Amino acid sequence: MKLLSRKATCNSHGQDSSYFLGWQEYEKNPFHEVRNPAGIIQMGLAENQLSFDILESWLANNPDAAGFKRDGESIFRELALFQDYNGLPSFKNALVEFMAEIRGNKVRFDPNNLVLTAGATSANETLMFCLADPGEAFLLPTPYYPGFDRDLKWRTGVEIVPIHCSSSNGFQITGSALEEAYQQAQKRNLKVKGVLITNPSNPLGTTMSRDELNLLISFVAAKDIHLISDEIYSGTVFDSPSYISITEALMDRNLELTNVWDHVHIVYSLSKDLGLPGFRVGAIYSNNATVVAAATKMSSFGLVSSQTQYLLSVMLSDKKFTSNYITENQKRLKKRCDMLVSGLKNAGIGCLKSNAGLFCWVDMRHLLISKTFEAEMELWKKVLYEVGLNISPGSSCHCTEPGWFRVCFANMSEDTLNLSMQRIKSFVQSITTDGDSRNRRQTVRNSRRRSLTKWVFRLSSYDHEPER
Ligand SMILES: Cc1ncc(COP(=O)(O)O)c(C=O)c1O
Repeated sequence: MKLLSRKATCNSHGQDSSYFLGWQEYEKNPFHEVRNPAGIIQMGLAENQLSFDILESWLANNPDAAGFKRDGESIFRELALFQDYNGLPSFKNALVEFMAEIRGNKVRFDPNNLVLTAGATSANETLMFCLADPGEAFLLPTPYYPGFDRDLKWRTGVEIVPIHCSSSNGFQITGSALEEAYQQAQKRNLKVKGVLITNPSNPLGTTMSRDELNLLISFVAAKDIHLISDEIYSGTVFDSPSYISITEALMDRNLELTNVWDHVHIVYSLSKDLGLPGFRVGAIYSNNATVVAAATKMSSFGLVSSQTQYLLSVMLSDKKFTSNYITENQKRLKKRCDMLVSGLKNAGIGCLKSNAGLFCWVDMRHLLISKTFEAEMELWKKVLYEVGLNISPGSSCHCTEPGWFRVCFANMSEDTLNLSMQRIKSFVQSITTDGDSRNRRQTVRNSRRRSLTKWVFRLSSYDHEPER
């Protein structure tokens, strides 16, 4: 250990969060309908597997794109040789057009303002390196994607200060919550460099209202700080209200020629909208030429391979394909979301009303034995080990209210989703019968007397020290 760097040995990576521990437990006992029907069903992974058939049929009809060929001629050598960090122009053109199409072509993007990165993970970290120094802070609304602790803080030394949002208004951002977070950062002697939002939100599965976007724009303008909008789920909006991107909100206020236009940066990736997290394709879009130049230089550390860029440039230039894919994928996501919501309702469990994403934000507060994060961890362990579902506790997303869970619906078959709903229903029935609730009350008394296991304590204390 002594021979290693502080970075290599510090624990701010966040891998001991229940979010990642759930994945590890799933790996030890993964559900398979034939080989392991009693195994754990993975509902903690925001993967989109619903439209692979559309991608596969495009690949079958366009064999040249994946076969290193253009007009029937091999371009293997061209792709295999050195690529500079600016990316293939044909791919950048196709990607900005795809981004505009997802936003209903209400906005346009200039490929010269785009920086390619190895996924949104790399895009977010690169932006931190460009916009903040170690010890400076970004404000993030809670609940937020658990990976941000790693992506924004770990290697950069940047701090996250939470903007506390609550269920009382559907976890929307308010002016007072923003101001409070800003004051909190100042109390901790942290210089605030910006706000980072995820729109549509992971884990809420909702899009931001025009009022929220306007509030954020006015706030960053008044404080003269940056705004990063992670729009990785922008193509998944499957229900009303319709999606308003940060670019549209800025343009509606005619802010193109103001400072704030240069202070807003968008993060995108094909991991969710096209369901290609393994391809590692992400991007930063910024109107700030200095940020674009710095991020381009930094992108050397996480480029997208030429082969992948070539394949996707051909795929995304096929307008018939993109328009069919976007519509069909959203239709399928809506169907899945409806299945999950009604399955949970049947088990007496409600969800925040969602209109986007690959998951629902599920309210299990009534199933807690007490209104504490220890009780949330106990429920999570029961659901993981006894019910066989890996879902993500709200505490791993830094939610301030115990009892909320993120449940994914797009990474499994319909049959598996139905099975998961049967399992949860039987579980709820078993714990709400009289005898069981007596037992549970007894268990609560016993467990209060006993000290919590070291493991549970470690998880909950980690999750509730977002400032660490
Ligand atoms: C909000 C958000 N940002 C970034 C990422 C990372 O995405 P990528 O696979 O493109 O690195 C995720 C992945 O779940 C996410 O939900």
